[in-house]
Formats: sequence, C-alpha cells, structure tokens
Amino acid sequence: MGLRFLHASDIHLLDLTGVGPLRYLNKRATGGLNLLLGRRRRHDEDRFDALVEAARRLDVDRLVVTGDLTNLALESEFEHVARRLAGLDLPVTVIPGNHDTYTRGSARTRRFERYLGRFMQGERLGDHPYPFVQSFGDVALVGVSSAVPTRPLWATGRVGAQQLERLAAVLRALRGEGKLRIVLIHHPVIEGVARARHELVDLAAFGRVVAAEGAELVLHGHEHKVVRGAIAGPEGPVPVHGISSGTAVADAHPYAAAFTVYEAEAAGVRSELHLWNDTDFAAAPSDAPVLAGAAP
Ligand SMILES: [Fe+2]
Ligand SMILES: [Fe+2]
Repeated sequence: MGLRFLHASDIHLLDLTGVGPLRYLNKRATGGLNLLLGRRRRHDEDRFDALVEAARRLDVDRLVVTGDLTNLALESEFEHVARRLAGLDLPVTVIPGNHDTYTRGSARTRRFERYLGRFMQGERLGDHPYPFVQSFGDVALVGVSSAVPTRPLWATGRVGAQQLERLAAVLRALRGEGKLRIVLIHHPVIEGVARARHELVDLAAFGRVVAAEGAELVLHGHEHKVVRGAIAGPEGPVPVHGISSGTAVADAHPYAAAFTVYEAEAAGVRSELHLWNDTDFAAAPSDAPVLAGAAP
C-alpha cells in the first residue's frame, strides 16, 4: 500500500478578525504591520480554495503542508487555519514554518501544536513533538520542525542537535522496516537555495544525518520557489523538492503558486508538478523523473 498526496507549502492564510494593529506592533514593532500589508498583495486565499478543489479532482489521499500556514502566529490566524483545514474533508499533515513561531510567546506556548496538533498525530520518540512519523503501509512521512523564533527581519531555521539525533534514530529504524522515507522540513536543505538570513543554520548537520541514514525524498517550502535538486545519501543522491507558496500571486515560474502530487510506494515515487496558470492549477508539461525507491 502506498500514499498519493499533494504537497503544498507557505499558504500564509490571513485573518485579522478582532486584531488591532497595536497588539502586534507592541510585540514586534519591526515587520508586523508592513508584513501584513505586503502579504495581502502577495497571497490570495482564493488560490488555496483552487488548490483544495484540485486535490479533490486529482483524488489524493492527503494534503501535506510544509509550514508557514500563518503570518504572525496570532491566535486568530491559527483559529482560521485550524477551521479551514478541519473543514476540508481530506486528511491533512502539517509541520511548522518560521512564520508559525513568529513571536517568542507563540513558540513558548506551543501555539502551533495546540491548534494544529491533530494534523501531526503519529509515532514519536518519548514525548518529544518532533520528529513525528506517520506511516501509510510502505510509506512513512517524517515531520521535522525547523521553526524557531528569530530576530526581526530574519527568517532562519534550526532543527537542533537533539532533534537531529532523534531524526537519525527514526530514519535508521524506518529503513530497517523497509519503509520509503519522505522527510518534511520547512527550510531548504540544499546549500545556496535560501537567501541570506533565511537559511537553515544547521543545514550541514542535517545533511550529515541524511548522508549517514538516508531518506528517499526530502520536501520543503520557505523560499516560495519551486526547487528540484538533491543532497548526498549513503547510496547516492537523495532527491530534494521545494515548492512555491500555494497562494502566491506571483505569475512567473518558479515563483508562481504551485503544488506537487506524489504517488509513493515501496518501489519508488512519481511526482507531477502543477502550476498556477491564469485561472486555475494545471499540470506542468514535464517534471522530475521517477525517484529512487526504498532501501532493500
Ligand atoms: Fe513562507
Ligand atoms: Fe518560511
């Protein structure tokens, strides 16, 4: 048994109902208001509706969103996101992005996990929230968190040494079970993909874990850009796919709104990129070839 899923990211749903500007300006004078005004121009929630419609049309089993579901990690935003996802009538998997831990308070009170924990149910090591593993027959989704609060205007991420240790153990165990391992992380994991002050600060350490333990595919978001590349694995390159924002208003590929449909089973993964094309999403003419299967 495999898994047919739709990978989207950075939907940045905006809901400011009942939130006055002072509330966030007090917390974080830099960025808050400008960011929200800019977001309104750069993201369109109608595209999320079109994406959900496409998920139904394409008959996927699950929607996977790799972080930045909100903008400022406000309670009102999480309420809106939780309501939208719960109303989809489609199973959903999420991991957090840097915007989902925008303030120290939101991270400290585990706001993302409190509102969206139901979309991250799975196996864990002890009571550590990350990584978590969701298994679908021969396929395992491994949810990693790189979301940490940052200084204003920074958007860096960090997995952390302890989570990386757990990730190594999880990848090793899943390999032992012959699972096809798909790692979900918000920040790009290929050197040079993220802009300055947007990087995963422990990218090299993440790379060492994958180089030692392997994975069959890594999916990310964050740069609002379609990325197709690879990092080193123990038996050859591990494909890395980044996806642009699912609600981007930008028109030009690789920044236009997009998602990828994956058909994953023990033998391997097939992918099909879909790009926003004027009025709806449409399959891109050609996408990456068939990817490597699970380790024997
Ligand atoms: Fe984002
Ligand atoms: Fe991000």
